[in-house]
Order: sequence, then C-alpha cells, then structure tokens
Amino acid sequence: MINFRLNGTEVNYDGQEVSLLRWLRYTERLSSVKDGCSGEGSCGACLVEIDGKAKLACRQKMADMQGKNIVTIEGFPAELKKTLGEAFVASGAVQCGFCSPGMLTRTKHLLSTNPNPTRDEATRAVRAHICRCTGYVKIVDAILLAAEKLREGAQIKFESSGMGQSSPKYQAYERAVGGPLFADGMHFPEMIFGSLAFSEHPRAKILKIDTSRAEAVEGVIKVLTYKDVPGKRRIGMITKDWDAYIAEGETTRYVGDVVACVIADGMLTARKAAKLIDVDYEVLEPLTDMRLAEKSDIKIHEGGNLLKETNICYGEPVSDVFAKSEYVVSNTFETQLIEHAFLEVESSLARYEDGIMTVYSQGQGIYEDRHQLSELLGIPIDQVNVKLVPSGGAFGGKEDLIAQGHAALGAYYLKRPVKLTLTREESVRMHAKRHPMILDYKLGCDKDGKFTGLYARIIGDTGAYASAGGPVMERAATHAGGAYFIPNIDVQSKAVYTNNLVAGAMRGFGVNQVTFAIEGLIDQLCEKTGFDRWEIRYKNALEPGLKTTSGHKIRKEIGLKKTLELVREEYNNSKNVGIACGIKN
Ligand code: FES
Ligand code: FES
Repeated sequence: MINFRLNGTEVNYDGQEVSLLRWLRYTERLSSVKDGCSGEGSCGACLVEIDGKAKLACRQKMADMQGKNIVTIEGFPAELKKTLGEAFVASGAVQCGFCSPGMLTRTKHLLSTNPNPTRDEATRAVRAHICRCTGYVKIVDAILLAAEKLREGAQIKFESSGMGQSSPKYQAYERAVGGPLFADGMHFPEMIFGSLAFSEHPRAKILKIDTSRAEAVEGVIKVLTYKDVPGKRRIGMITKDWDAYIAEGETTRYVGDVVACVIADGMLTARKAAKLIDVDYEVLEPLTDMRLAEKSDIKIHEGGNLLKETNICYGEPVSDVFAKSEYVVSNTFETQLIEHAFLEVESSLARYEDGIMTVYSQGQGIYEDRHQLSELLGIPIDQVNVKLVPSGGAFGGKEDLIAQGHAALGAYYLKRPVKLTLTREESVRMHAKRHPMILDYKLGCDKDGKFTGLYARIIGDTGAYASAGGPVMERAATHAGGAYFIPNIDVQSKAVYTNNLVAGAMRGFGVNQVTFAIEGLIDQLCEKTGFDRWEIRYKNALEPGLKTTSGHKIRKEIGLKKTLELVREEYNNSKNVGIACGIKN
C-alpha cells in the first residue's frame, strides 16, 4: 500500500504498477494532466508538482509516490488558477490548448521561486515544453502578465467583445486550465477501451489471424476483426479504398493496416492484449519507390497504382519556348514525408444507445465522418450522430477516419461507451502525412528576366491509401508555377500508391512542395544570370489581369507586389537572407 497526498487529500494506492500519468488521467480523471508523447518524457504536457518540484507525471512510477505531495491544476488555489488561466487567454497563448495546462503548471512553479522573472528567464522556463500551434512568444507574454498581476494582486481585464474588438478565443479558459474537453479526457459510466493491432509488414498476405491469446487475457471483452464489420469494410474520405480491417487472404498495404481491435475493461489491458494477436503472414517485397510505382508489377489496389493524374498545358509548346529563351534552368527537387506532430494524438469515443450511434470526433470533417461511419456500420445515416470535440492540433492531419470507426464498431457490438486513444507511436504509424514529392522542373526567361515557359513533372507518394492525395497532387499541379505569371505551361502531376505511410492533407495542401521547387529554380536562375533575386520575383509576380499556372485569370488585387515592395529595403540591407513568395488558392 502506498500513501500520498493528491491535491490536498490523503490517498492510498495498491493498484497495479503504472505511471503517475496513467493513474491521474484514467483513475482520478484529472484531465489537466495531458498525454502528448505516451510517456517518452519529451512534450511537457503532463507536468505536475511533486513536493514543490515540477515533474513529468509520465516519468514517475506509482511505486515511488510514497509520502509525496502531488498537485495538479485541479488543486491549485482558485485565485492563482484564475490568474494563470486568464493571463494565457488574454495573451492569446491558447490555440488548441493541449499544451497549456503543462505551461500553466510550469508558470506556477517558476513564479513560486521567482515572482518577477525576466523575459529570458520565462523563455528558459518553457524550454522543456512543446507547443505545436501557438508559438512561444505569446506563452512567454502570458507568463510575464501572470507574474505582473500576481505581484500587484490585480485582476486581468478582458475587452468586451463586439465589432472591431478582439474577443477571447472560444473555450480558451477551459482549455488553459485543462478542462475535460478533449476526447481522451471524457468519461462515461460503463466505459470500456479499445486498442488496435497493426500489420507487422508493409506488404504481406495474411494467412491467419488468431485472436485466442488476446481473448484469454483477463478483462478483455471482445476482439474485433474483419469478420465483425456489418457494413462496408472499405472506407475513405474521397476515394473508398481504405480497409478498416485487413481480412485473411488479403494483402496488407502498409504498417498502419489494422488486423484486429481489442476491447477491454481498461486501456492498459486492451493495449497489452492487442500485442497478443497472432498473425501468420506470407511476407512480400514492398513497393516503396514512387518512381517505380506506376509501372510496377505490384498492384497495391485493384485499379493499379496511379491514383490521380493532372495535366495543365497551354500556350506554345514549351520545347519551342525554351529554344527561343535567353536562359533556361532545370533541376530535380525532392521533398520528404512530414509528420504533422499535433500534440494530441487521435482519440475517439463512441456510444450506441437507443439505436443511435454517437461518436465524439476530433476530426476536421464530421459530416464525412458521419457518412463513413454509416457505411462501416451498415446503419442509416440518420442513426449516426457525430459530435465535434476540440482537437489538440491537426494541421490537416485529422481528416481521415482513424480511431472513430473502431471505437464505433466496439460500441455497436457491446452497447457500452468505447474510448479508443492511439499511442504516439501508433499515431505516427497510422495517420496520413505530408506527401513526399519528386519534382522535375525546367524554367525559361527572356533577356530581361521575364519568365517564358515552365515544364514540370511531379510525382507524389500517396502511400497505401488515397486519403486526400488526389486533390493534394492536383493542387501541386495548379500551383506549380508558384506566385508568378508564366505564359507557356506544360505541367503534369501524378499521385501514386506505394506501400509507404499514407500521405494526405497538411497545411499548404501540396503547394509547399512546388513552391520549394520553383523558388529554388528561380534562385538557380539568378545565380546563373546575375539577375537580382528580389527584382526577378517582382517582375514576374501575379497581379490582376494575369493568369495563374491553372490558367485562372486574377481579377482582384492579391497584394503580392505590395508585399514585395514593403520588404525590399529590409531585404536589400540584410546579409545572408533569402527571399521567396508563396501563394495558394
Ligand atoms: Fe509526459 Fe509528454 S512529457 S506525456
Ligand atoms: Fe500549444 Fe496547441 S496551443 S500545442
């Protein structure tokens, strides 16, 4: 038996050996103690006070809590909590708010020893915390504001909202102090937990799925596989190509494919049992090179490996244009897969009561979720209710049905609320990333630096499933020429399937990669010819009356030239700086 104090109350613990974070979140249901990195000790979201010291709850074992005094935000003195929370809200330091409780705890700890920190000291204090959305300037502002108000004993005043005035962000205070707004912080009576078992190989034929060892674990209630999908197993936001479960006899497409979902009375039990799913595989060579994908004998989907091709061609043939151009440059650029790294991993909660499926989703398209859930469960759409809950960051990355479908299937069978939260590792493995691309570019200009023609061949690796890969790669084509008017265009983009991680939407939606390529090529042109980097961009910048790469005529002022004019002096007077333009939609 271990005895300690939690938020002023004596506690006796003789449960299983888990981390302090697990116990605080799932037994004590203290939603301010967030899990951002599944116990890796790298995000700072789980910070608590133990004996007056700031400690990461995910790195503490319950066995070591004997005699300790643990304080979470729920146990802060009311006035202090209010001041800290309001300082963060007033400073605009709360975007998704998932990191905020850890930041507030850090602030309390800092101010308890140093009531009047310098900006530098406040900055150093939050070094151990990751904020993926707000940025640290406003967080440091909030710490300094809180310090000032606590020293003065004054309250923070908010401007009343109205036309022309800023209002505090919706639910910002509740997020800052760690209210139970996010899916993983919500609890319902009789709630049970799901955990997924993934394919061990990116490409392998599944010969047999044996769930018996997992089913034998005490606390396991049901193990779901492909056999349990009552509706359509193949779902997808745009293209219906994503199997919610891979069946025996089928071939996996990536390491994020799900073979089973364990439902148990506790999250740890479900996760432990998911590791006991035994699968017999016939391991096959995966297709991982996007350049080979289109013509490969390996067909990842029945219809072949080309998901989408977009062609844009107008003006004179570019080979003729390049022959007449004063200067021509070419290069091949390659961009890598990028993880969104939202601080909150995917989590969903589903309840099936009185014939209505209610799913709490942090997704970015609840109506798409609703359609897909209705198809997966084989129930009419008016029996599916999807409730949007706050998302701890998404950046385009939470558009697909990830945890929602599996949680709903568990609730459908067991008629109990089911929560399914991925670990950080599972999240990285399963969700869609930014497309890696190979961009083969050629650009010509006349003797004055006016662009004459663009040739581009772009391949994007969409991985195992389409996700938003079709529209992303279409956007890559339509923005291939960047923020510039180029009169003769020959652009082609292709989205191809491979056995790599899925790629889909991420901020910029395919435009970042092509912007990187065109801007790199313009710099190369300047190096070759001696054209000024600012000048050439200004000379070719899009403005009303000119056409974008997609052939659309700009009708209204877009501000590009004005922006360039505003940065000109600073750019000219700075050393070792680059310049680039980006524009989208
Ligand atoms: Fe503890 Fe990330 S540091 S959950
Ligand atoms: Fe900091 Fe979102 S506000 S991670």
